[in-house]
Amino acid sequence: MSNEIMTRVSAIAPVLRMLSKEDKCCTVKFSTEYCEKCTAGALKITDESIDGIKAAFDAYVKANGAKPTAAFVDGLGIFRITVTEPTNGRLTGKIAIVTGSAQGFGKGIAEHMAREGAHVVVADMNADGAKATADELCAAFGEGAAISVGANVSDEASVEAMVAACVAEFGGLDVFVNNAGIVRAGSLEEMTKANFELVAAVNYTAYFLCAKYASAVMKLQRKVCPDYLSDIIEINSKSGLEGSNKNFAYAGSKFGGIGLTESFALELAPFGIKVNAICPGNFLNGPLWSDPEKGLFVQYLNAGKVPGAKTVDDVRRFYEAKVPLNRGCEIKDVARAILYIIEQEYETGQAIPVTGGQVMLK
Ligand SMILES: NC(=O)c1ccc[n+]([C@@H]2O[C@H](COP(=O)([O-])OP(=O)(O)OC[C@H]3O[C@@H](n4cnc5c(N)ncnc54)[C@H](O)[C@@H]3O)[C@@H](O)[C@H]2O)c1
Repeated sequence: MSNEIMTRVSAIAPVLRMLSKEDKCCTVKFSTEYCEKCTAGALKITDESIDGIKAAFDAYVKANGAKPTAAFVDGLGIFRITVTEPTNGRLTGKIAIVTGSAQGFGKGIAEHMAREGAHVVVADMNADGAKATADELCAAFGEGAAISVGANVSDEASVEAMVAACVAEFGGLDVFVNNAGIVRAGSLEEMTKANFELVAAVNYTAYFLCAKYASAVMKLQRKVCPDYLSDIIEINSKSGLEGSNKNFAYAGSKFGGIGLTESFALELAPFGIKVNAICPGNFLNGPLWSDPEKGLFVQYLNAGKVPGAKTVDDVRRFYEAKVPLNRGCEIKDVARAILYIIEQEYETGQAIPVTGGQVMLK
């Protein structure tokens, strides 16, 4: 999609969705391919402002006694509107983007959200992995459960295109999960400026870029429905709450993420956008830790971060022993916190530990 098309679609689809959905579930799918036959009976939009779309929508309902199932703009394309009854899922009809969801926590979060009835955009720099995850979700939860987008969250144009792809496919955005993150561990002696800046770009700057483009769609939805709530959720870390030895690039970027979370929460509260962070403990069974070549167990063993450790298993036991509840953090623990944040309408700007008691708030 060209920038001009992206901008126009992003200004129209969320308005149509909000006007169509009321207390039901609704998606609006855009396509540049349309013919005279498929626009027969569709709502014609000539004024693309909110008021213009609203006026055309109301006039359509008055004339036809029913809401439109499609709308079109000459020379732009068609918007197909699907309204369905809510299901029992706790996220029924919600539209979500999960970044970094080709693997690890992100993949698990995307899966839990789709199981609860959300439409999920699986966004990742690993485009093939993202596609494989989205295909799995559609096979398990039905066509329309997920799409994939190849995206680099530290690149502004890529973030803009990712959010636009979500709006073009589903018609809006209700939950943005800022999950993509990287670790480059190392002491002051070892750390290079390039690695330090890479970690900051992916874990810190990218959160700003994502919040900027995600909140624009959420604000538009709120303009049409003045009581509509949406969520931006940062997957932070326990290393955003306390320092991490020989891992300051990561911990610093995550501390910064909490500063952004609190500040975005203040700025976006008037628009009904809640912004919260989840701070998981170590996901010891996930690929970040357990990958036999690049995983943190291997990295920490080689860096001598755990005194006396001779094997990867020694490193694992060292980290398990630090947790009062005596195990690593699992995806289900993070998924529960996400559901809590979304369902809790009276909280914003929080950093919620999910650490088995390893970090306790003062
Ligand atoms: N694994 C843990 O122990 C742990 C603990 C606390 C918090 N976290 C946080 O959870 C999040 C996910 O961690 P994980 O362990 O699942 O990591 P992971 O390495 O298993 O997966 C991260 C995913 O992000 C993608 N990614 C990396 N850079 C990207 C970029 N620039 N643009 C788009 N996608 C990108 C990768 O391709 C990968 O699919 C991170 O923010 C991490 O800091 C992890």
